[in-house]
This record gives sequence, C-alpha cells and structure tokens, in this order.
Amino acid sequence: MNNQDHTTIAILGAGKGGSALLELFTNLPRIEVIGIADRDASAPALAYATRLHIPTTQDPLRLIRRAGVNLIVNVTGDPEIENLVASHKHTETEVLGGAASKVLWDLVKHTSQIQSQLFQAEKLAGMGTFASGIAHDINNPLYILLAFSENILEETDLDTIRTQAKSIIEAGKRIQGICQNITQYARAAKPGDAIPVEVNSTIDEAVKIAQFATILQDLSIIKNYQGQLEVLANPDELFQVLVNLITNAIHAMDGKGTLTLDTWQENGFGKIAISDTGSGIAKENLGKIFDPFFTTKPKGQGTGLGLHTVKAMIKKYNGKLSVKSEVGKGSTFTIEIAHVS
Ligand SMILES: Nc1ncnc2c1ncn2[C@@H]1O[C@H](COP(=O)(O)OP(=O)(O)O)[C@@H](O)[C@H]1O
Ligand SMILES: [Mg+2]
Repeated sequence: MNNQDHTTIAILGAGKGGSALLELFTNLPRIEVIGIADRDASAPALAYATRLHIPTTQDPLRLIRRAGVNLIVNVTGDPEIENLVASHKHTETEVLGGAASKVLWDLVKHTSQIQSQLFQAEKLAGMGTFASGIAHDINNPLYILLAFSENILEETDLDTIRTQAKSIIEAGKRIQGICQNITQYARAAKPGDAIPVEVNSTIDEAVKIAQFATILQDLSIIKNYQGQLEVLANPDELFQVLVNLITNAIHAMDGKGTLTLDTWQENGFGKIAISDTGSGIAKENLGKIFDPFFTTKPKGQGTGLGLHTVKAMIKKYNGKLSVKSEVGKGSTFTIEIAHVS
C-alpha cells in the first residue's frame, strides 16, 4: 500500500470522527488526505477540510471510486456506505472501517487528551520558574504598604494620613492585579472551538505573566501593532502560546535587552512576531528546539515542552510557526494564523 513511503487516504464521514482523523492525519508526515466525503453538507469536518484546502464532496461514491487511494477510512458507521465501499473500491485500495476505525478514533481522542495534559503540565512547571519573579513583584508594593501603615499609626496630620492611605490602596491594588494575573494564568485551558480572539490585548496580558520569568534588570519593550487583529483560536491556548514564546525571549536576554512585538496582516493571515536581542540559537540546535524535552536551561528552569506544545497548538489551527536566529544577536519567532476579516 505504500508508494515511496507516502500514503494517500480518503475519509468517509465528516462528523466528530472525521474531524479528529483529519486533525491527526494532517499532522502526520508522509500522509496525504486526498478527500473527505459526507452526504450532510453541514458536517463539521467538511468546513474544516475546506480550510485545510482538502477536497470535499457530498458524494461518497466519487471518493470510493477514485484511483490512487491507498486507504479508505470509513467512520460513517453506515452499513450502506460499507456496502458501497466493498463493491466499488479499487482492488488495491485498503479499507479501515467498523471497529478498526473506532479504535483509531479512540486513539486520536486519547492523544489529544495527553496533549492537553502536557500543555497544563508545562504551564504548572512554568509557574514554578515564575515564583521568584512573582515574589519580587509583590515585595515592592508590600514594602510600601507596611512602611506607610506603620507611619499612619504615629501620624497625626490628617492630610499626610490621607496621602499615605492612598498609596497603601494603590500598593494593595498592584498586589491584587498580580494575583489576578496569576490565577487567570494557572487555571486549566477550557477546551473548545476556535473563536475570534483579539491578538494585541492577548499579547499585552501575556507580557505581564512572562515578565515574572526573570527579575528584570533592563528590558525595553517595543510594540508595533498594526491595527486591531483578530484570529481564530482557543483564547486560553493562544494566551499560553504567547506566554511561552515571550518567556523564552525574556530568558534568552537574561533580563537585559529589547523585546519587540509586531502584529500585522498579510495575505489573509494574521502575523505575530516576537523578537529578542538575546543569546540566539546555535545552528545545530535549530532543528531540535521543537522536540519534546529539548532544553538548554538548567534543571528546574526549563522543561523543554514549551516550543513543542506551542507548535502543536499552532498546527491545530492550520497556522505556522517559524524561527530566525543568530547567535549573539537574538531570535525572532513568527506565528502565522488565519485572521477574522
Ligand atoms: N528566544 C529564544 N532565544 C534563544 N533560545 C531559545 C529561544 N526560544 C527557545 N530557545 C531554545 O529552545 C529551547 C527549548 O525551548 P522550550 O521548548 O520553550 O523549552 P524550555 O524553555 O523549557 O527550555 C530552550 O531551552 C532554548 O535553548
Ligand atoms: Mg520555554
């Protein structure tokens, strides 16, 4: 069934099973989905396939009869379709249907569960590395709060008391803001479909979290947002993707340097570039940074899961992630993802 290690697949059934298989197959190398069929024009995987530029049809027979198909995966569960396949498929075409396709679907579901657990694990590990940054950021307002409170105990001038009380409230609010950011970040991502998400404000929120990654010494942040930009994504996932990339950038600069955040639209895509003036990535590592568990950071600081999960997330939305890097100068990670026009 293998022609030069390349397998062509036709999917019958564009419901939940069809969607899950489409996602799996399009993420695998050496597999090409050459079409998907469902008699119901509103079946969800048909729209998904169209976005991926995979041909769709409402006539299963057309796909079954097509030449050059290595494998038909039938997830319709429809005996009539099963008969059609049996009587019309090319002899060399193999078929995966019934219980076998159900097992495959279960495996896909299991994989995507593991992926989201990995995602959450990476997030929690990240929380650990943020701890000292968070403590540092809370410490400053806390110091003001304690100093002024002690002062007020002795102070008799009403105006001074009022001014200091205002500072105490401000310091309290800063701590409250930090706590809100952390709790928002720590909660698990809500699984769900892609919805329009405003990119620029999501980046701003992500920067607030990523800044905890180091005790900042001298970091300038340049934002070049070209107008409002909305992309289709799960908001929690996009947020986590940005936190990961910005955290990496800040780590690479070791607290000193320039973080540049660009967003723009190009050829129907929303683009986000995160650039740093940090260490850069050695040529021999460029091919490895997306591998799970690849890290150059000391134990306790890196899990090596960040870029791996980022890439999986972006791929899920049929987006792209690219990197340009020069050792000693810095790196730019660019995300390309469908935008809402
Ligand atoms: N902006 C960057 N600048 C330099 N190196 C980077 C950058 N982003 C990622 N890397 C490299 O890629 C590796 C993997 O990144 P990642 O998957 O996020 O894992 P972790 O941050 O836990 O090490 C990092 O350890 C680092 O060597
Ligand atoms: Mg990382």
